[in-house]
Amino acid sequence: EFALRDMVLTGEQLRKELPERRSFSHKGTYGHALVLAGSKEMTGAPVLSASAGLRVGCGLLTLAVPEPALPIVASKINEPVFWEWPAEEGYFARESYTLLKQRIASFDVVAIGPGLGTWEGGNNWLRKIINMVDVPLVLDADALNLLSENLSILREKKGQIILTPHPGEMGRLCGCTVAEIERDRVGYARSFAQDYEVYVVLKGTYTLIATPDGKVFINTMGSAALAKGGTGDVLTGMLAGMLAQKVAQDEAIEVGIQLAVYLHGIAGRICGEKSMYATLAGDVIDNIGSAIKSLS
Ligand code: APR
Ligand code: MG
Repeated sequence: EFALRDMVLTGEQLRKELPERRSFSHKGTYGHALVLAGSKEMTGAPVLSASAGLRVGCGLLTLAVPEPALPIVASKINEPVFWEWPAEEGYFARESYTLLKQRIASFDVVAIGPGLGTWEGGNNWLRKIINMVDVPLVLDADALNLLSENLSILREKKGQIILTPHPGEMGRLCGCTVAEIERDRVGYARSFAQDYEVYVVLKGTYTLIATPDGKVFINTMGSAALAKGGTGDVLTGMLAGMLAQKVAQDEAIEVGIQLAVYLHGIAGRICGEKSMYATLAGDVIDNIGSAIKSLS
């Protein structure tokens, strides 16, 4: 068993894990992330995730957005490459599975879910994605809601999967109430991670990271300034951006998750120093640079 001090994330321990930024490098050195997010009703979430991914240092980020929402999303952000994602399950009818798989295989990490919405047949759509992605795959928000309909699709994974539920989403995944989750956060996160061999980032005041091999880490560096819509979408982007830079082995995934969660909390604290009330998710993104600076 782990001692408590080993479970709590610290700046001292994570400082040395920051991806190096070398003089002789270029955008290709720092990974290419794919973020699949957004819908007509939710055009902000993909923007938050994409900017956050780029702010943690990812070299390139492609933002795939369902076609009806793409023009709106693309008008709000300049830095990503855009991928017009045909709406819903129509995708697999229009593009050959092989072509799609080839294109997806060119990324170092894939993140799915913020603002995506849910639809009939969405679980089967997600199942196909889970089957074709062999790099780290982050599932958040509506991807978790689609997943909850049938968890067994997780068993078909080809690479590592990272789930980032808030307590409500964790309750849906586990088939229990939020109160039950909150009473035993470590227990639920740990057993889910072990049962399905995935990483679980159970969000909250103290966010937990549970690993497939039964370890649990706790982030105590957050702020109530983060209690506002969109800050979870920021975390998803930070995870994608960090994992794009640290992709080699399982250990790198674990450290990449720790860095993203910790830096998100620090960025929230920096925002909180200015105002615990007025912080917007976009302000958290604007302070990622300062959070990294405070660590290095
Ligand atoms: N202290 C520390 N951290 C906090 C606090 C707090 N008091 N309150 C919130 N946070 C952090 C959480 O740890 C988490 O990282 O803010 C983030 C909130 O994430 P989400 O709950 O996913 O919020 P949000 O971005 O609004 O999600 C957007 O997607 O998950 C769905 O239902 C959700 O519709 C919503 C959408
Ligand atoms: Mg969320």
